[in-house]
Amino acid sequence: HGTSKINDQGHLEIGGCDTSDLKAQYGTPLYIVDEQSVRNRCREYIEAFNASGLKFQVAYASKAFCVMAMCRLADEEGMSLDVVSDGELYTALQAGFPAERIHFHGNNKTPEEIEMALDAHIGCFVVDNVIELHMLQAIAAEKNRTVNILLRVTPGVEAHTHEYISTGQTDSKFGFDIGNGSAYEAVKLAEAQGNINLMGIHSHIGSQIFEVEGFQMAVQRVAEFASSVKEGLGVVFKVVNLGGGFGIRYVDGDTPLQVSQYVKAITDAVKTHFAGLGSELPEIWVEPGRSIVGDAGTTLYTVGTSKDIPGVRKYVAVDGGMTDNPRPALYESKYEAVLANRANDKVEETVSIAGKCCESGDMLIWDLDLPKVETGDLLAVSCTGAYNYSMASNYNRIRKPAVVFVKDGQSNLVVRRESLADIISNDIVPANVAKETV
Ligand code: LLP
Repeated sequence: HGTSKINDQGHLEIGGCDTSDLKAQYGTPLYIVDEQSVRNRCREYIEAFNASGLKFQVAYASKAFCVMAMCRLADEEGMSLDVVSDGELYTALQAGFPAERIHFHGNNKTPEEIEMALDAHIGCFVVDNVIELHMLQAIAAEKNRTVNILLRVTPGVEAHTHEYISTGQTDSKFGFDIGNGSAYEAVKLAEAQGNINLMGIHSHIGSQIFEVEGFQMAVQRVAEFASSVKEGLGVVFKVVNLGGGFGIRYVDGDTPLQVSQYVKAITDAVKTHFAGLGSELPEIWVEPGRSIVGDAGTTLYTVGTSKDIPGVRKYVAVDGGMTDNPRPALYESKYEAVLANRANDKVEETVSIAGKCCESGDMLIWDLDLPKVETGDLLAVSCTGAYNYSMASNYNRIRKPAVVFVKDGQSNLVVRRESLADIISNDIVPANVAKETV
């Protein structure tokens, strides 16, 4: 992937940095992000949209990997930003991300979050439900502000993907249903609010999608809806946001399309289905997360113990696991890995990679072909840039790893490894408990 290669010493090198050196400098487990590869992905999206001739915004879905350095990078590449919580918003603002290009998502924004985002003058709220709409109107009125919104709709399109990450179908906790009239009513309601400017609608059909058909269907449904809203209410959507979900290759058998293919399919569908509406074509927004950072990330582990059960299986344990990558345990996600310190050695055994948590489900990879693995070897698991650091936990009070950006032989620490002091930094022992334990 990206800029990785095997160097003369047989070591895996990413962004011109030898992974053995990275281990020596930063320790393991370590998230390594190939900066150039992230930048290239951002550029692919923007170039593909430029080629379409439509107005657009590409918002990086920060949930995939949200740290200040990543927000800076996304800004430098001309991306907008999708945030879902005060934490993501705070990270972006602290990183100096331009507020007017921040879009605030989520199905249960708190009044405090709404206020914070309003005070920061973010670009737009993606409103999920009626309660939020009323709350937003009330807070905006109090502050004598007009707030830009999109309405999130469920177009009734089901993406072919893991059940837990499909969000576009009718039976979903997200958004207003187009099919049962609730989206239409929401448009009416939004239009009736004095402090709300309805810019358009939003639809997200799922994640890790390999085909264009789902997006094309969503565009068609949204265009039909736009047409009925224009006819019935005289409302014209200036913005249509089609969410994220563009797939990447984790393992053989994953068959994602090129970024340009997804974008072309969407923009062509917009030209086809919105042409008949008789108004200017809407501005198209998308929100890729995984496809921006997913395959730019690698997690480097040190091999520790192993357990060979003759005739059954050999378990090889690394110094991380479900705490830094919960995706195999949550979604049965598959990953590939290589021995980073002996990347040219020939395959000699099939092993299963276990984490160090006190839980049998803490397995990273089943049945991986590797050279003869020894304690102290370095294991590099690829495609861990998205939804790994951002979903990491402190289960078993395991510390979150450091994150480095690598590019042109340079490495830059962007997140420090958590310390043991960090682990207890929010703990409070009440005085009476302290006394009783003495
Ligand atoms: N926009 C909205 C409204 C979303 O809900 C999501 C992802 C995205 C954009 C970005 O989707 P992407 O381009 O990354 O597929 N934790 C799961 C993925 C959950 C995705 C949730 N929403 C995983 O690890 O696979």
